[in-house]
Amino acid sequence: MSSAIASVHGRRIWDSRGRPTVEVEVTLASGAKGRGMAPAGASRGRFEAVDRRDGAAALGGFGVSDALRGIDDEIAAALIGMDALGQTQIDARLIELDGTEDKSRLGGNALVATSLAVLHAAAADRRQPLWAYVANGRTVSVPIPEIQIFGGGAHAGRRIDIQDLMVMAPSAKSFDEALEMTAEIYLAAGRIMAKRGHLAGVADEGGHWPVFESNEAALDTLVAAIEEAGFVPGEQVAISLDIAASEFGSGGRYKLGLERRELDSDAMCELMLRWCDRYPIVSMEDPLSEDDAAGWRRFTAAVGGRVQVIGDDYLVTNAARIAKAAEQRDVNAVLIKLNQAGTVTETHAALEAGKNAGFGTIVSARSGETEDTTIVHLAVGWNAGQLKVGSFSRSERMAKWNEAIRVEEALGDAAQFAGMSMLGRRR
Ligand code: PGA
Ligand code: ZN
Repeated sequence: MSSAIASVHGRRIWDSRGRPTVEVEVTLASGAKGRGMAPAGASRGRFEAVDRRDGAAALGGFGVSDALRGIDDEIAAALIGMDALGQTQIDARLIELDGTEDKSRLGGNALVATSLAVLHAAAADRRQPLWAYVANGRTVSVPIPEIQIFGGGAHAGRRIDIQDLMVMAPSAKSFDEALEMTAEIYLAAGRIMAKRGHLAGVADEGGHWPVFESNEAALDTLVAAIEEAGFVPGEQVAISLDIAASEFGSGGRYKLGLERRELDSDAMCELMLRWCDRYPIVSMEDPLSEDDAAGWRRFTAAVGGRVQVIGDDYLVTNAARIAKAAEQRDVNAVLIKLNQAGTVTETHAALEAGKNAGFGTIVSARSGETEDTTIVHLAVGWNAGQLKVGSFSRSERMAKWNEAIRVEEALGDAAQFAGMSMLGRRR
């Protein structure tokens, strides 16, 4: 069998925060090769797959030598001889081999990089671009990008509470045009910050560093940047926020560090609703913390008809959690992150669970990334609708936007730009 796995090798590479991460290379009997790289989050959900890290003093505890040993020994022994075209069987074998609920024994980092390396090797063996291999003849679409202008939260030393202040361009006719509009806004935002003496570099995902005196000041500045770039806020360009509320909320208490006040669940919900009324917001991610199901339900019941409500840390790319959230009407959209789930198969199952629920689906990068562009292909080939990879600077981000331009061009007339219709059925 020419698509049988002949070798599996792990190596240490470095992510966009300068921390070690795992890369896996898989070679098939045919000679086809594939590579997978593990990203890393900073604002992680409590129920996501757990990375295997050395934990000693060196490299801040982020070392991956144990994870690499597991790949070269146990994982290689289990996978060699298996058919790379059978992704489901490969991932089932990885899950069984790890044997833990949270993938902590072999590590979510080792598993996701291996799973992705096999996927790439299989596509190479079939001589197909990755998006076409995963689409397997089904409908594909070019996703609408969600792009950060200001970073915050855990990605900017908690300088402001909101983690991602992003834009979406409902008026764009193509991915390429959406990027051009974003470029104008990113530059305009930089000019505004420079004029105020507030230009202070970029946060972890490439957004301008958030030198603001309040969360609202950040929102006002984003509206000003959209206007300065020549667009009508709410019509041509809308705002999308990732509050990442689990980072500062738990047990029904929310500690807003920047404003030095603490809110209960009702007050936090009211504040999020006020922002939705006051600003041209079309999408809100993790507006409440992962343990505040009642808050989520209340928020979605209030604005779910006009605002996309995305569960990230709340749903951790888990098909069962997504199905439950659908039943309870907690959200109307779901973020999809490969390394929250840990394998390609589980990630795809989560995406399908979201689609079955009528949710908007957003394939997302992590704040710690590499030059890897796989998620662009998955968003297109899995017909996800939306893509979130951070801001409009730093090459681990730009590599992904640029890859999407290439895929859109390759698709030619078949390139259906998802546009805002993909924001999901409203609840
Ligand atoms: P993370 O956050 O990758 O730092 O966990 C990204 C997000 O919350 O969407
Ligand atoms: Zn998030």
